[in-house]
Amino acid sequence: MGKIHHSITELVGHTPLLELTNYEKKHGLRAELIAKLEYFNPNQSVKDRIARAMIENAEAKGLIHPGDTLVETTSGNTGIAEAAIAAAKGYKYQVYIQDQVSHERFAVIQALGGETIKLSTVPAVKKVLDETNGDFMAAVKYLKEHHLKTDNTRYFLDQVGNPENAGAHRETTGPEIWEDTDGKIDIFIAAVGTGGTLSGTGEFLKARNPSVHIIGVQPGEKSMPSPENPHPKIEITGTHPFSGIPEDHMPGALNRDIYDEVITIEGEEAAAAVQEVAKTDGILVGTSSGAALYAALQVAKRAENKGKRIVVLFPDTGLRYLSTNLFEPR
Ligand SMILES: Cc1ncc(COP(=O)(O)O)c(C=O)c1O
Repeated sequence: MGKIHHSITELVGHTPLLELTNYEKKHGLRAELIAKLEYFNPNQSVKDRIARAMIENAEAKGLIHPGDTLVETTSGNTGIAEAAIAAAKGYKYQVYIQDQVSHERFAVIQALGGETIKLSTVPAVKKVLDETNGDFMAAVKYLKEHHLKTDNTRYFLDQVGNPENAGAHRETTGPEIWEDTDGKIDIFIAAVGTGGTLSGTGEFLKARNPSVHIIGVQPGEKSMPSPENPHPKIEITGTHPFSGIPEDHMPGALNRDIYDEVITIEGEEAAAAVQEVAKTDGILVGTSSGAALYAALQVAKRAENKGKRIVVLFPDTGLRYLSTNLFEPR
């Protein structure tokens, strides 16, 4: 049997698990730290999984046809994944993106044939952002009411509201982790943006073994734009708080019954973990991976976790952050 693939959609998923042996040794850990390296996906992030699932589900329902335009709003990785899969399947692609997202993300989407629209260039959206101190959720609400409409030739993929987001993780990420660990997993840790990764993976793992401990990671106050701090030094790209926040700001794809614990991490801690694991194990990842790793380190140090296996999901590659301050000496 040959091994030639015929579409990038066939290359999504089956990412490797890697024990961070040098990082474990450096910190004297008695628990196993295993990273799921999502940058092995064809477009270097976890979001390839949901892009494929959302587009193929719409195709299966007859809602889209080649030549149509797929539309979305995102802070980056989802846009890259959707642009690539749209290109491979013959769709046009248009995406509304937050201004502060790293330059690489805009450049990659454009290279893949997608059209990028910065939120600040849509006057009414800029007004919403100005009036809400840069509240992305408020901007998304406005965009949904006025720009992200599904009609005969345009289809709103909607990673936040689309059940295929968590569904993709329930059908691929969760089973892969279960198979690759032979079902030996005690703790699963992932950062939350839309909540799809934590929910879908958590749902699968809990269905197999209800005692798997599921931990969600959220950004701390100092790493989120606020009236006192409109431009945090390091934001944890793609993540969103989900504990102790107003109901209408909860991430749309999050199953609130699935996690057992929430850990809050600041951008500086995430960056420190990113820089450290690059040097100990040769793994170059983005800020949200660093946040999940820093959380995993605290969990691994707990006496009750001696001998346990912790799987931590690394959503994307550090190459997408070279134009940011993530790798500056600190
Ligand atoms: C870099 C990065 N990390 C983490 C996440 C969070 O993943 P999820 O949306 O599945 O919660 C995202 C999502 O946008 C992301 O782009």
